[in-house]
Amino acid sequence: MSVLEGRGITKRFGGRVAVEDVSISVDAGAVAAVIGPNGAGKTTLFSCLTGASSLDAGAVVFDGADVTSLGADARARLGLGRTFQRVSVFGSMTVADNLLVGAEATRRTPLWRGLLGRTDPRAAGDASRVERVLALLDLEELRDVEARTLSTGRLRLVELGRALCGEPRVLLLDEPASGLSDAETEGLRAVLRAVAADGVGVLLVEHDVRLVLDVADHVYALAQGRLLSSGTPDEVAADPAVRRAYLDRAPS
Ligand SMILES: Nc1ncnc2c1ncn2[C@@H]1O[C@H](COP(=O)(O)OP(=O)(O)OP(=O)(O)O)[C@@H](O)[C@H]1O
Ligand SMILES: [Mg+2]
Repeated sequence: MSVLEGRGITKRFGGRVAVEDVSISVDAGAVAAVIGPNGAGKTTLFSCLTGASSLDAGAVVFDGADVTSLGADARARLGLGRTFQRVSVFGSMTVADNLLVGAEATRRTPLWRGLLGRTDPRAAGDASRVERVLALLDLEELRDVEARTLSTGRLRLVELGRALCGEPRVLLLDEPASGLSDAETEGLRAVLRAVAADGVGVLLVEHDVRLVLDVADHVYALAQGRLLSSGTPDEVAADPAVRRAYLDRAPS
C-alpha cells in the first residue's frame, strides 16, 4: 500500500524546469529509490515531497490525504521523516541527546506542563525509543559522545537515528551513503532493510548505484528532471535509456 505519492510533480526555478511531471510512489514496508546524474532533479523532487519546496504543478499525497498545501513541519508531524544531503546534527550534543531531539520533535508538550513543572509522561516513551534506535544503528557505545567528534559515516547514522526516533511512517533520505566507507554502506543497507521490515516506507535519493540496486524494491531513474524509467532494480538497470543516461558513466 502506498504511504507517500508524488503525482505529476513539476518544479521550476526561474524559467528553468528542475522536475517535470514526475510521479512516484513509496509503499509501506518497502524501499524505493531515486537515481540520476548530477542536476537530474533528485534533491528538488525530494524537497517537493518533504514540503521544503512548493510545487508548480502536481500533488503530494500522504496516506491517502492531499498534503500539497502543508509545510515541512506539518508533514513531519504527520509522520514524514527525513535526512539531509548535507549532514545536519547538533555537534555539541551527545549522540543520545541528538536522538532525543528527534523523539521530542514529533510530540507537542502542552505549555501548562512546562509552567507547572510537571514532566510529560510521554518522555519515558521517548527514552525507550532512543534506546531501541541506538541498538538498531549499533551506536550504543557512542551514546555519550559529542556528535562533533564523529566521522561522516557515524554522523549520517546519528541523523538517521534522529529521524527514526520521530517514528516516521515514511522516511526520506537524500544521499545517505555519501561519505560512507564500504563497511558503513554495508551497515546502512542492513539498517534500511530493517526499517522497511518494520513497516516504514523508505525513499532514498542516491548516487551509489550499487547500494540502490541492492537495497531497493523499486527504482525511479531521473534525467534532466524527467522520469526516464521505473521498475525493479533489474528492470531499471537493464533499460538502455538508463544505461545511456547514467549507469555507463557511474563510478564503479
Ligand atoms: N534553489 C535553486 N535555484 C535555482 N536552480 C536550482 C535550485 N535548486 C536546484 N536548481 C537546479 O535544478 C536542477 C536540479 O537540481 P537538483 O539539486 O534537484 O539535482 P540533483 O539530482 O539533486 O543533483 P545532485 O546529484 O548534484 O545532488 C539543476 O539544474 C539545478 O541547478
Ligand atoms: Mg541532490
